[in-house]
Amino acid sequence: MKARQILLRGGRVLDPAAGRDETADVLIERGRVAAVCRGIEVENAEIVDAAGCWVTPGLIDMHTHLREPGQEYKEDIGSGGRAAVAGGFTAVACMANTQPVNDDPATTDFIIDRANHDSPARVYPVAAATRGLEGSVMTEMAALVEAGAVAFSDDGETIADGGVMRHVLEYSKLVGAPVITHAEDRTLVGNGVINEGAVATRLGLPGNPAIAEVVHVARDLILAEIAGAHLHVAHVSTRGAVDLIRQAKERGIGVTAEAAPHHLTLTDEEAAGYDTNTKVAPPLRSAEDRDACCAGLADGTLDAIATDHAPHAQHEKELEFTVAPPGMIGLETALAVVLELVRNETIAPLELVRRLSTNPARILRRPGGELAEGSVADVTVIDPDAQWVYDPAKGYSKSRNSPWTGRKLQGRAVATFVNGELVYHVDQGVLT
Ligand code: DOR
Repeated sequence: MKARQILLRGGRVLDPAAGRDETADVLIERGRVAAVCRGIEVENAEIVDAAGCWVTPGLIDMHTHLREPGQEYKEDIGSGGRAAVAGGFTAVACMANTQPVNDDPATTDFIIDRANHDSPARVYPVAAATRGLEGSVMTEMAALVEAGAVAFSDDGETIADGGVMRHVLEYSKLVGAPVITHAEDRTLVGNGVINEGAVATRLGLPGNPAIAEVVHVARDLILAEIAGAHLHVAHVSTRGAVDLIRQAKERGIGVTAEAAPHHLTLTDEEAAGYDTNTKVAPPLRSAEDRDACCAGLADGTLDAIATDHAPHAQHEKELEFTVAPPGMIGLETALAVVLELVRNETIAPLELVRRLSTNPARILRRPGGELAEGSVADVTVIDPDAQWVYDPAKGYSKSRNSPWTGRKLQGRAVATFVNGELVYHVDQGVLT
């Protein structure tokens, strides 16, 4: 659709940045939002009937694993970008645990170049905080930001050395990018592969205790406070971590945090059938932890919802629970999964969109997350009522490791616009 103007007519416009939640039209012109109001009349515009749908700023996933370079059999920047727009995401931040690790400007540059050619979604590289994700030598943070890195993270690994973490936080402040912590104390995780608790005992699997996350988050919050830096806590999964982050925010510490759709909706009971697609790091937790994450999401302690889309090949997942790699894909299911939190009245639609779009844009200091006149026309049209059954074989990700396979879902993106261009429509698929 290459019309000069596109008119999204009669949708429920949800713009958290403006506090707007009302029925209106949205006019897109030359890659920008040109107008948002009722009854827009223009000649020759391409009309999209958005009645019954939500019209939101493009969703932004600040935690994706795209696997390129190095593990393109699981995913690549093109397939991940297509999965993103099919899921309603107009931008994704991709983690550094590729092969080679994204710890030098040449790799960051490669990712950006590939994304420009292959991905319909914007791609924001997250660079490693330490070389090779080894937790000992800091990366050249200024050069990485210069190359286009938006944040620093050893995600997938942890930074066990407190001195290194302190310096990473201090330098991140100088370069103006957040540090995203994967908070799991490995000495407490031990060989745990599932949440420590009754389910682990019943299944005879070694447990990964909630305190492994809580202890690490406590340390990182204290280090962020003395460094005066922006710490972002990835995939929060425990009540204890939510409580600590809430207290830290009250004390004025510069912390933001995200939760993944699976930690907000599933519990360790999912692993009862030993389905390795339920194995994820940090693990699915107890109902009490899940409910605390939902409460934290609702009260703003958790700023963002991020997928932690982690593709793995079938042959890797078809192993014993103890040896299969952790991770599940999520780009194409995230929106439907978290819309359940609106239906069960955990969170209002405007606040959900804030956590899926406005807050990630602000945390990463990128454009988007708003529908103000003149802002970039990254826009998602969502049918919150659409019923569908998820089949990863029909999706865009190269991998199929999802616990939602075969499940009935409600709500999905029906159209995704990046820079004013339609890149996905539910009836036509990905268009680029
Ligand atoms: O489950 C996970 N998978 N958690 C991580 O932190 C890393 C990710 C991956 O890269 O597979």
